[in-house]
Amino acid sequence: MSDQPQQTERRIQADGIQGQVDELLRRMTPAEKAGQLTQYFYFRLPEGAAPEPALGMDPDAQPRAVEQALGRATVGSLLFVTDPAEINRLQRLALAGNRHGIPALFGFDVIHGLRTIFPVPIAMAASWDVETIEQGQAVAAREARAVGIHWAFAPMVDIARDPRWGRIVEGAGEDPFLGAAVAAAQVRGFQGTDYGQEDRIIAGPKHLAGYGAALGGRDYDEVNLSEYELWNTYFPPFKAAVEAGAGNVMTAYMDLNGVPASASRWLFTEVLRQEWGFGGFVVSDANALRNLVTHGFAADLTDAAARAMAAGVDLEMAIQDPAYAHLPEALQTGAVSQDAVDAGVRRILEAKLRLGLFDNPYVDEDRARQVLADRQHRQVARVAAERSAVLLRNDGNLLPLDPDGLASVAVIGPLADSRRDTLGPWVFDFDLDETVTVLDGIRRKVGDRVRVASAPGIPVVQRVFPSMFDMFGGNRPEDPEGFDAEAEFRRAVGLAEAADVAVVVAGEWQNMIGEAASRSSLALPGGQLELLQAVVGTGTPTVLLVMNGRPLDLRWAAENVPAILDIWYPGTQGGTAVANLLFGEVSPSGKLPFSWPRTVGHVPFIYSHTRSHEPQNQGRRYWDEPSAPLFPFGHGLSYGRFVFSDLTVDRPSVPPEGTITVSVQVTNTGDREAAEVVQLYLHQRHGTASRPVRELNGFQRVTLSPQASKQVQFKIGPEHRRYWSTTERDWVLDTSIFDIWVGGDSTAQLTATFAQDGQSGR
Ligand code: NOJ
Repeated sequence: MSDQPQQTERRIQADGIQGQVDELLRRMTPAEKAGQLTQYFYFRLPEGAAPEPALGMDPDAQPRAVEQALGRATVGSLLFVTDPAEINRLQRLALAGNRHGIPALFGFDVIHGLRTIFPVPIAMAASWDVETIEQGQAVAAREARAVGIHWAFAPMVDIARDPRWGRIVEGAGEDPFLGAAVAAAQVRGFQGTDYGQEDRIIAGPKHLAGYGAALGGRDYDEVNLSEYELWNTYFPPFKAAVEAGAGNVMTAYMDLNGVPASASRWLFTEVLRQEWGFGGFVVSDANALRNLVTHGFAADLTDAAARAMAAGVDLEMAIQDPAYAHLPEALQTGAVSQDAVDAGVRRILEAKLRLGLFDNPYVDEDRARQVLADRQHRQVARVAAERSAVLLRNDGNLLPLDPDGLASVAVIGPLADSRRDTLGPWVFDFDLDETVTVLDGIRRKVGDRVRVASAPGIPVVQRVFPSMFDMFGGNRPEDPEGFDAEAEFRRAVGLAEAADVAVVVAGEWQNMIGEAASRSSLALPGGQLELLQAVVGTGTPTVLLVMNGRPLDLRWAAENVPAILDIWYPGTQGGTAVANLLFGEVSPSGKLPFSWPRTVGHVPFIYSHTRSHEPQNQGRRYWDEPSAPLFPFGHGLSYGRFVFSDLTVDRPSVPPEGTITVSVQVTNTGDREAAEVVQLYLHQRHGTASRPVRELNGFQRVTLSPQASKQVQFKIGPEHRRYWSTTERDWVLDTSIFDIWVGGDSTAQLTATFAQDGQSGR
């Protein structure tokens, strides 16, 4: 009852918004409407930066053209501006140029923080900690909104099962259940309960759909996915994001089953709007509507505009020459309907009104500075980095290190003290001065008590084909002047030999992962493996810290390096978090959000495959290499020791709509406080389709003191057991027996069963 006044107020507001939109729609010309459906990049390259030819733009002409468009009201939204003064200036131009007083909407890739940089999204997912993920995006939203950004092109919720695809770093990994939970948490973080509230921005889950399944892992290449995979695996994170209230959805670049995803009426109208009830606006990926011609799908830009509009794409993101500039022409010939255009404009205007932009289009630049400097934001980032690190191996409990038992540490590797790499890809507004590298973090932690020496050991490695992001200053790694590779290698190994412990940081430079950063190998680039081998060869106990956004080939390390901690690209506070983990102030608690392949020949690779001929040989599918993962999905060690017992189900069978309650006892038998992610896996034994050998169906993070125990409960409702069956071409609940496993990773052995009465349809 107490919600009622609030609800009534919202309804009145919504009615008010509709009235204003109707009035504007009545007064706008077709060209003005097309303008509201157009979003431009606004790009000013840093001093001296070379333009990237792939972007197809003239760096001087582009901003000029956009400013002219603002003056003519032929653009309604901009992206890529983060400076509040610049945003205010451009907003003034927009308002001066628009006779209806419609403000511009500013979007940006707020992927893992704006000024406070969080661990990369795959790392955040590895925390399996939805509260921390939500808090992280709430911080990002607060910073973004303070500078005048209204909308994040995030979360990326594409399932990624092929780590050759560089954008695996932007998502939550291979699993639809984890992916859905992480997607919803991010939307809640960005938007709160309403993106119209203070410090909130619109969330834009992307890229609908299937982008992560690019052929050969090659970014932008075509995708062919069955409906079975789309409904059961690739759609659930999108559906969860929509259910969490996401105000926007972005299209995908590639062809999906032979049709450019950005022009798929099935995706944007039938699935997104009709099936899931999405009420927000759809944006194309950058230049994706022009690309409809490139794909050999649309005849020309007018045709592209008409077909994208008919598919349900409201806003075109463009670098220059947008297809939607041709909408007036398409309206005239009848290629596109007035209703479709008006519906698109309505959604954009609704978003602007809901954000309160008509009343308050500008930002307070002083407040922006304060918000960006908020120390609290850095604390949230540190906790996130601590919780996302995954302890892959800890032979003989080498970790945690005892600073009182050490006289010296050698910190080795070219990434150990690289501020830019510590932050990871997809960040633009960072502050390098405040970024804490692994070396900084260790130094600060041990103070004068322990001698800390450091050397990169090998030269930086360059991509064979440069990254389009290299045009942003500092994105391309560089060796210090006069770098002597052979001498440096010897020096690094010498430092390791003389130290009590060696910490080697190895992985990929951040410009090797992300968009347009697919890779045909998973090897450690450059001489990093040789360096690691030489360090281990000195006999000094060695810890490997992996800085990565995709699984790398760690076969040698998994056998020869006693302790391996995956720290990902841990962000602004990364080094502090890593030092806290290394020295045992906190216990690692992250879990892998993907199965770690042994070699690139394994990929695509998933734990949730179906059972097939000769299941006893599942680990011997190749004759030359085990086909089991190097580390399984959900794997991650801690400084505690967790034991699972007393697994029970509250009844032996469920009716179709019934819910089963599963209980398990979790005990920390170790001698340190630690967190464990309790994971529940499900398997349907028989039915109208073959189901995965096991699939994640629940997880909970629990923190336990030494010797403490806790009962954890999971509810398994019909929504957890229903799936889309190819045989029925519909959602089903089969009559079947289910196996349950509960434990600390996807190889959990503690098991129980229950039965289910079946039912077809939803
Ligand atoms: C292209 C990317 O695919 C998309 O994810 C991003 O949001 C836009 N560029 C804007 O930067």
